[in-house]
Amino acid sequence: MAYEYIITNTNIQPHIALIQLNRPKELNALNLQLMQEIKHALLEFDNNDEVRCIIITGNERAFAAGADIKQMESRTAIDMLKIDQFETWDQIRKTKKPVIAAVSGFCLGGGCELAMTCDMIVASETAKFGQPEIKLAIMPGAGGTQRLTKAVGKALAMEMVLTGKFISAEEALDAGLINRVVPEEVYLDEALKLAAEVAQQSPVAVRLAKESVLKAFDSGLQEGLYFERKNFYMCFASEDQKEGMKAFVEKRKPEFKGV
Ligand code: CAA
Repeated sequence: MAYEYIITNTNIQPHIALIQLNRPKELNALNLQLMQEIKHALLEFDNNDEVRCIIITGNERAFAAGADIKQMESRTAIDMLKIDQFETWDQIRKTKKPVIAAVSGFCLGGGCELAMTCDMIVASETAKFGQPEIKLAIMPGAGGTQRLTKAVGKALAMEMVLTGKFISAEEALDAGLINRVVPEEVYLDEALKLAAEVAQQSPVAVRLAKESVLKAFDSGLQEGLYFERKNFYMCFASEDQKEGMKAFVEKRKPEFKGV
């Protein structure tokens, strides 16, 4: 599929696929087509055995400044219901391989929600995170009230959602929203390094482990522990588990194949 609003790259580093949002003039505002393209690319990478980790990024000025306000401005509630624009967003959550957001500049509204739906966030010092929907007399609709609250706690989430205030990358790091802050020149390199670390693990174990961590978000402790235990046992069905443990005993580097 030829994309208009994203650029994809699977040759950047072995086992890593990159999705770059590419509406720079509009600060990567997330219109319906752009989100369809992200969905399509994620599905394609999830089905490509060569890919082990996916990075979503924007540019230095903006990761994404939110859903496209101009596209939504004149819609009625029934239009919103029919279009169901957040349906395509579910694919990000459903992606089985790890997804890392590499964020610089504005990461607002739907942009912040997109980053939070990824599994990890690497940010440049210039990144600004916020849920400013309240200033448009709407509210976050793609996970902002839920994922932000789970990540940073009620006090800060409430303040950000009710006032629309932005927080800096350092504040986001302190609050537990993101994984690391690095100079702007290297934020994508850092995301690639993190992706490479993930990509050198067993893809089977990574998938089961990701699933288990995400389970903690929507289950009680007992259910989560039971799910984790089943996934732990499931790891022993893979050749990678045999290879991982054999390599440890033989004091060599393992070679994982994803089977
Ligand atoms: N939708 C559509 N266009 C947008 C946009 C958005 N979310 N954000 C920026 N743009 C456009 C601007 O309209 C402008 O276009 P023109 O040149 O044609 O006028 C261009 O991008 C550059 O933006 P600015 O001139 O405003 O740049 P700035 O540096 O002065 O300000 C900003 C940057 C503070 C990010 C400002 O653009 C802004 O406040 N953007 C909107 C942020 C926002 O409210 N996001 C939430 C959207 S709703 C949502 O996301 C709902 C949800 O839960 C999914």
